[in-house]
Amino acid sequence: MSNLLIFNIGQLVTNDPALGGVPGAVANAGVAIVDGLVEWVGADDDVPDRYRDLPQLDAGEAAVLPGFVDPHTHLVFAGDRSEDFDRRLRGESYEQILGGGGGILSTVAETRAASEHQLFDEAAARVWRMMANGTTTVEVKSGYGLDIETEERMLRVANQLNEMLPMDVVPTFLGAHVLPLESRTDRNAYVELVCGSMLDACAPLARFCDVFCDDAAFSVDEARRILEAAKSRGLDIRIHADQLGRVGAAALAADLSAVSADHLDYATTEDLALMRSAGTVAVLLPAVSFSMRLPYSDGRVIWDSGVSVALATDCNPGTANVESMPFVIALAVLNMGLTADEAVWAATLGGARALGFEDRGHLVPGAIGDLVVLDAPTHLHIAYRPAADIVAAVVKRGEIL
Ligand code: NIG
Ligand code: FE
Repeated sequence: MSNLLIFNIGQLVTNDPALGGVPGAVANAGVAIVDGLVEWVGADDDVPDRYRDLPQLDAGEAAVLPGFVDPHTHLVFAGDRSEDFDRRLRGESYEQILGGGGGILSTVAETRAASEHQLFDEAAARVWRMMANGTTTVEVKSGYGLDIETEERMLRVANQLNEMLPMDVVPTFLGAHVLPLESRTDRNAYVELVCGSMLDACAPLARFCDVFCDDAAFSVDEARRILEAAKSRGLDIRIHADQLGRVGAAALAADLSAVSADHLDYATTEDLALMRSAGTVAVLLPAVSFSMRLPYSDGRVIWDSGVSVALATDCNPGTANVESMPFVIALAVLNMGLTADEAVWAATLGGARALGFEDRGHLVPGAIGDLVVLDAPTHLHIAYRPAADIVAAVVKRGEIL
C-alpha cells in the first residue's frame, strides 16, 4: 500500500457530484494518496504540509483521471480468429460462421486444448497492455470452455491474474455463452448441467454470472433458469442483452435486478425504463460496432433515459479484439453521441457501478488511489486525438506502474 502526492495537475477529473459530477473537473489540482487510498483532493496551492514528505509525482500540468474500469471482457482465451475476421470482411455474417461451428466454437476448441499456464501467459500479456492504456480494474468472463473442467480453468486463470498482477480482476462465470457442439442435439441437458454441477464448481471462483441471451445463444427462459440458479449460489447477475436482436433480455435483466445489461443494440425505450427502475447499468461496447462494421447503439438516447451508462472494451477474439479504454471513449464520443464528459464518466464511475464497486471510478477521499495521468491537457484530447498514445502514467493504489 503506497503513498503518493500528485501535484501540478492541469485538469483533475474527480466525478465528484459536489464538483459537478460529470466529470467534476478541477483546474490546477493535487491529490494525496495514503496507504493506497485517496486522502485529500484540492487546489495545488493548498496542499497541506503533512503531505509534502510523501513520494511525489509531478503531473506537468497534464490531465489526471480516475483509473479506467473496464466492466466487460473475455480476455482469457487461446488462439486467434483473424481468419473469421477475413471471412466477415468478405461478406459472411457472424451468425453464419457461428452456426457452421466456427466463431466462438473455434475459440472453445483452442481454449479446451490450452494449458492453464498458456492461458495465463496470454491473458497476462493482454492485462499488461490494458494497464498501459490506463485500465486499473477489469472484469473477465469464462465462456470458452463450455465444459466444467475448462470453465473452472478459465476462472482460476482470472483469479490468478488478480493475485499476481497489479490489476483488480473481477471474474464472471459465462458457462452459457453458446451451446457447445456436443450438446446440439440436447440443449436442455446443457442448461441443466450449467444450472447444476457446472455452477457448483464455478460459483466459488466467480463474483458474477452472465448469460449470452440472444437467438444465436440462449433464450430468455433458459437465461432465467441459469441466472436464478446462480443467484441462489450468491452470484450477482449481468447479461449479454439484445445484441443481435430484441429477445427481451434487457427486460429480463431488469426483472432479475441484474447489476448490468450489456450491448443493448436492440433495446427499446421501454426496456431502458425497466432497467432504470431496477438500477441496472447499461454497458455499451462501441468497439464491437466498430470491429463488426455494425450500427452503433444510440448512447445519447440511452444516457438521456436516465440509466447509468458504462463503457467497456468487450476484449475478445471475435467481435472486438480491443484492449484500450481511451479508444473506446473516442468511439463513444465520435459515434454514439456521448459528450467527452459523459464518456469519461462512463469509462470510470460508470464502469465501477457496472461491477458494483463504490470505492473506485472517482477521485474523492476514501476512494482507491487508482488514476491515470494523460499526455494531454484535458480529457477532451482522448476523443480529439483518437489512437494517440495518450496515457503518460498509471497509478494503482498509490503505486506508479
Ligand atoms: O460480447 N456476444 C457474445 N460474446 C462476445 C463475443 C465472443 C466471441 O465472438 O468470441 C461478445 O460480443
Ligand atoms: Fe461480450
